[in-house]
Order: sequence, then structure tokens, then C-alpha cells
Amino acid sequence: MRIIRTTDYDDMSRKAANIISAQVILKPDSVLGLATGTTPLAAYKQLIRWCDRGDVDFSEVSTYNLDEYRGLTHDDPQSYHYFMRKNFFDHINIDLSRTHVPDGSNPDADAACADYDKLVHDAGYPDLQLLGIGNNGHIGFNEPDKYFSKGTHCVDLTESTIKANSRLFDREEDVPRQAYTMGVQTIMYARMILVIASGEAKAEAVRRMCFGPVDPECPASILQLHTNCVVIADEAALSQCPEA
Ligand code: F6R
Repeated sequence: MRIIRTTDYDDMSRKAANIISAQVILKPDSVLGLATGTTPLAAYKQLIRWCDRGDVDFSEVSTYNLDEYRGLTHDDPQSYHYFMRKNFFDHINIDLSRTHVPDGSNPDADAACADYDKLVHDAGYPDLQLLGIGNNGHIGFNEPDKYFSKGTHCVDLTESTIKANSRLFDREEDVPRQAYTMGVQTIMYARMILVIASGEAKAEAVRRMCFGPVDPECPASILQLHTNCVVIADEAALSQCPEA
């Protein structure tokens, strides 16, 4: 695990965008694993600017998002389908038919998850997987648990995640209670993992991810065992990691 310390959120975002853009320049038909949330927003904006200028070309790229709320249709403004189009896909030259997000509108959880696993498997797994980290150490929606999850599955969101995500909803009651998420094993199949983290609220999770025991109670800690994992975090997120 390599840790890159940045001064602040903007610096973290530019560095992450640089790495994603280098991946796409080196391999134009890259498979990218993508994340939603607040953390990647400025990196996506930066990539949009570079795409506009012709510096990076997404026309052959395929994408697979980590997760989606169960029960939301693709055009629901709170869905991750909608988020990705609004914040990234609608502004770059990507072929939308090559973008994939778990199908939260399919009420048959087993079928929705098995279909998604097959898609990611058939694509050969991501060349680069972008990850944010939850305050409780979750990656994707893999919440703290007694064991590490494997493939895509349906999860009950923890109270801490519902609370954290409620900032994007009108009311906490509106946050869906379940989601479909890639499993930890699927995430670990990516050839490179890029974790981004910003802000004091992430400091404990970042410390446990990088320096704690590998423990499913902090799902991100398994990334210590990945052979090519880069963490880009700002001073505040690394404030509990003086050794980094
Ligand atoms: C999003 C996802 C989550 C977020 C995490 C951090 O697709 O899988 O694991 O990366 O909850 O969210 P933010 O970036 O909003 O702090």
C-alpha cells in the first residue's frame, strides 16, 4: 500500500485525476471501477476538463460502478445511475452503453447481483478501481462485519452509513435501507486500487485501513493485502497517521 499525502481536497483530487487519466492514456480501452459520493466529485470535474481539451479520451473506456441503492429507478435523482450521469458520464465522450451500475430497480436481489457479477467478470475486472472510504471503514457498501464479503450482494445499510448519506436526501427517512454492492473479493480483483480520502471525519477509518489489523470490522483494511493499492489522502484524513 502506497500512501500519498496531499495538502487538501483539491490537491488530492488533481492527483487522483492524473492517475486515472494516465491509466486511460496508456490503455484507451481501460475498464474502470468507479465510485459515487462526495469525495470523487472534483476528480471527475478535472477529468471532464481534460476530456473537453482533448487530453483524455473515454470513447473506448468501460466503467463498472461499485454500488446502487435497492429500489431506486435509474432516473431517480438519488440513484447512483443518475449521480454518475449528472456528475461525469454526461460530460465526457464515453459510450453510455459501456457504463454499468448495479440495477437497483430489479427487486430480485439474487438475480440483480448475479447479473452484475457476471458482467464484471466477463469484462475481466477493472484495470483501476477508484474507492472512497466510509467513516466506519466501509468500501462500496461493504459494511463492518464478521467476515469479508465475496461477490455482489444485497446489504442492509448501517445506521452510521444511513446518517452519513442522509445529507444528500431531504430527510433521513428517505435514505434507502438496502443497497446492492460489489463484494470485497470483487474489489480485490482490480489490478490497481486507488483510494481517495479527505477530511478529519475519515481520519480514524484511514488509520485503520492503512495501519490497523486486517479485520472485516474495518472492510478497507483488506486493501493492505492488495499488491497495487495507492491511497491519496489529505492532511486532515491522515491526521491520525503521523507515520505516513
Ligand atoms: C460510493 C461508495 C461509498 C463511498 C463512501 C464515502 O459509491 O461506494 O463507499 O465511497 O461512503 O463517501 P463520501 O465520498 O461521500 O464520503
